[in-house]
Amino acid sequence: MDDSKIPSALLGGRIRRAPENFLDGAAIGEVSKGRRDVLRASFAAAIAGIAAATRPAAAASDGDPDILELPPWSTSLGLPVAAVPYGMPSKYERNLIRRQSPGLTQVAGSSVAFAPLQGSFGIITPSGLHFERHHQGWQDIDPKRHRFMINGSAPGMVKTPLVFTMDDLMRLPSVSRMYFIECGANTGMEWGNVAVPTVQYTHGMLSCSEFTGVPLRLLLEMAGADLKRGKFVLAEGADGSSMTRTIPIDLVMSGEVLVAYGQNGEMLRPENGYPLRLVVPGVQGVSWVKWLRRVELGDKPYAAKDEAVHYVDLMPDGTHRQYTSIQECKSVITTPSGGQTLVDKGFFNVSGLAWSGRGKIRKVDVSFDGGKSWQEAKLQAPVQSKCLTRFTLNWNWNGERAILQSRATDETGFVQPNYRQLRAVRGTRSIYHNNAIQSWLVEPSGEISNVQVA
Ligand code: MTE
Repeated sequence: MDDSKIPSALLGGRIRRAPENFLDGAAIGEVSKGRRDVLRASFAAAIAGIAAATRPAAAASDGDPDILELPPWSTSLGLPVAAVPYGMPSKYERNLIRRQSPGLTQVAGSSVAFAPLQGSFGIITPSGLHFERHHQGWQDIDPKRHRFMINGSAPGMVKTPLVFTMDDLMRLPSVSRMYFIECGANTGMEWGNVAVPTVQYTHGMLSCSEFTGVPLRLLLEMAGADLKRGKFVLAEGADGSSMTRTIPIDLVMSGEVLVAYGQNGEMLRPENGYPLRLVVPGVQGVSWVKWLRRVELGDKPYAAKDEAVHYVDLMPDGTHRQYTSIQECKSVITTPSGGQTLVDKGFFNVSGLAWSGRGKIRKVDVSFDGGKSWQEAKLQAPVQSKCLTRFTLNWNWNGERAILQSRATDETGFVQPNYRQLRAVRGTRSIYHNNAIQSWLVEPSGEISNVQVA
């Protein structure tokens, strides 16, 4: 259905948000109303021009006090800017926060907080909502005391080992680029068909930021790296988790790998690696080493603990697949999604995210009948390489059972698999790299839940 053909009779569609979006019982009524109002407002904007002649008159005849009476914010003095030297979201948005999964063991010092994808617009994740994964707690490092070293694994591998202060790094030529980051374990619980309730928990180890930093290639060149012998780099973090990861030198020489200090126009947040992290576009999150303090050039992969024991894929024949870095093409519908309720039938603008570690998204198809038939969604600009892409499709829900799915194709022609196709290659005992098609079941009651469709 194209935007210009939305009949005004379909204006009823509304979504009630997932219960775990709310802070506590007392907040439910208040926040729920707020979210519905936002939806109504954005819907009204989308159809402006079509229903403009009818909607205002209908609202006024309801005797809506929010139209007929002046609210306090129109009749009082507002707060000075000095009241909020660093701006925070509205108190009405306090339900939209990172959350830890109740289904995952809460080990002190080892944790993951999921991004609330169900409430996101566009493609950029606000820094305060960026998902967060650490193996031994996060640190707020004094940038004056932080050092970044480049060295070689053997004499002559780099001509001049270098140590940079933050000031040294920040005077060098920098680039700013938008990239997604996804933990290799994202959607991991679905391997066991755990069916966690919302998209925050199924896909929330995913975020997208504009990162600013210096290409690692430039720093290696400054150190006089021997690129004939050097085939891999080892990146090392300054936190207590001894996080080290091997990155192939070809990726570094592509110029995409950044030693980054900026995130969405300001310095990185402490949880996301302040003051320095590695940005490895398209590659699983564990390789984006945070609190980055050292890069070593070597001639073979390092088989560090987080690539030999963890972050390996158990294949059906019992072998382990190692160094499976690239995050393959994937997508998910974020609105409407699990835990939400369609309050009545009618029009909905279905919206979601697609991404590929191999480049740009070429197209996204959406199904409302569990994969029997597909319609091509609209891709919102910009569509960038190794970045999230927002897709949308208009839908007229007839009030019957429906299964919503999205299926992305990237510029290499790779098509996101369904569970049958994925399990045929990968078996059933993996934890990592689940890029299967996600299904949301819509019941006639409007309630939406997480189901798996082969
Ligand atoms: N770097 C260090 N030094 N220590 C860590 O625990 N966690 C890794 C990676 N970099 C980690 C790290 C993992 S497993 C992921 S998925 C990403 O950071 C998460 O990055 P984020 O917290 O900025 O989302």
